[in-house]
Amino acid sequence: MAINLDEFRARRELLIKAMGEGVAIIPTSPELVRNRDSHYPYRFDSYFYYLSAFKEPESVLFIMAGATPKTILFCRDKDMEREIWDGFRYGPNGALAEFGFDEAYSITKLDEIAPKLLANQEKLFYSFGAEAVWDLRVNNWLNQLRSQARTGVSVPNEVVDVRKCLDEMRLYKSAYEIEIMRHSSDIAAAAHQRAMQFVKPGVMEYEVEAEFLHEFYRRGAQSPAYTSIVAGGANACTLHYNQNNAKLSDGDLVLIDAGCELDGYASDITRTFPINGKFSSAQKDLYELVLASQSAAIAKVLPNADWNAPHEAALDVLIRGFIDLGLCKGSPDEVLENGSYRQFYMHRTGHWLGLDVHDAGEYKDKQGGWRKLKKGMALTVEPGCYVRPSENVPEHFWNIGIRIEDDVVVTETGSEVITKAAPKTILEIEALMQDD
Ligand code: GLY
Ligand code: MN
Ligand code: MN
Repeated sequence: MAINLDEFRARRELLIKAMGEGVAIIPTSPELVRNRDSHYPYRFDSYFYYLSAFKEPESVLFIMAGATPKTILFCRDKDMEREIWDGFRYGPNGALAEFGFDEAYSITKLDEIAPKLLANQEKLFYSFGAEAVWDLRVNNWLNQLRSQARTGVSVPNEVVDVRKCLDEMRLYKSAYEIEIMRHSSDIAAAAHQRAMQFVKPGVMEYEVEAEFLHEFYRRGAQSPAYTSIVAGGANACTLHYNQNNAKLSDGDLVLIDAGCELDGYASDITRTFPINGKFSSAQKDLYELVLASQSAAIAKVLPNADWNAPHEAALDVLIRGFIDLGLCKGSPDEVLENGSYRQFYMHRTGHWLGLDVHDAGEYKDKQGGWRKLKKGMALTVEPGCYVRPSENVPEHFWNIGIRIEDDVVVTETGSEVITKAAPKTILEIEALMQDD
């Protein structure tokens, strides 16, 4: 999808309004060395990208609010030698022409120009603590200004965490963002379908991970959105399992939590299915329970509902099911109260989703209550059930781990499940897996 530069410009203007006065400094991420002269794949900083659409490392955005607002990018110079080795760079002039900033300078001029931009500003909008190298640099600029105090230069006397303003903006996805997220979800859903058709007893977990990577890249995603979890059998009971190096066994389930990043936006899908294509009766009991809890949770994703309503709905269904299946003892209220359900369900039911897989945004409002869902918010709904061997558990449930995760956008009247192309009913999954 073509980059909608007007939208990026509008975001910068919104930030300028929210600031009122002062200067904001938003650096992108540093490049990270893997070893010697090899780097990890580069990923820009989400806040920086959200405002700039600019993906090159060694860049920083200054935003000046007040009477004469302007946006200034510092970026790498054009450099034929480096471009021969590493690829194209816009350079300040190219960035200015392409991305709609008011000014652009070489990153080599940053230490010379930045103190001038900070001088005599009342407020500094910057996230101290996010990146030590930048903290040191910003402190140096401030100290330079302090040393000029007798010449009448003043230093910003109020520091505001710029992320606070941006988190709130990032929480509400525009139609443009939702379109990218739909596409990212479609790619991840296709990869989950591909995995269901690929899996059979004897296949290694990493072979399945490779199917995901193939499908992600083949369809234009730039990377996985996080390290994929491919967890066969008992491995599914380790929530953050990602060794992905075991053999998939006949009779077990496999839990796969895998999503991609497309144009900066994450998808985040989990599906759990039988390695041999057919759910056993115990697997069916638990799977239907998790699926019912997910449906109940998704039904609570509505404008003006509490953030916590989907979690409470999922928990209610799970607790009743745990009691029916002999996993928990007592009444639903007692099990909720004494927390015995946590032996089988120990995480929450979702998180914000967007540029980051665990996206920006507060979960509580200023009064400390759960915030209300609003049109344009995007979240995951991901209940699960993880049964480790234990004396208090019927043996036929041992080592079954199930999670079902979809990505949901709050609409004007309800919600849209943007990952629904990934099969999840027992009927759909078994039909797909038997379909050679
Ligand atoms: N894949 C990360 C999560 O589900 O939160
Ligand atoms: Mn998730
Ligand atoms: Mn996930």
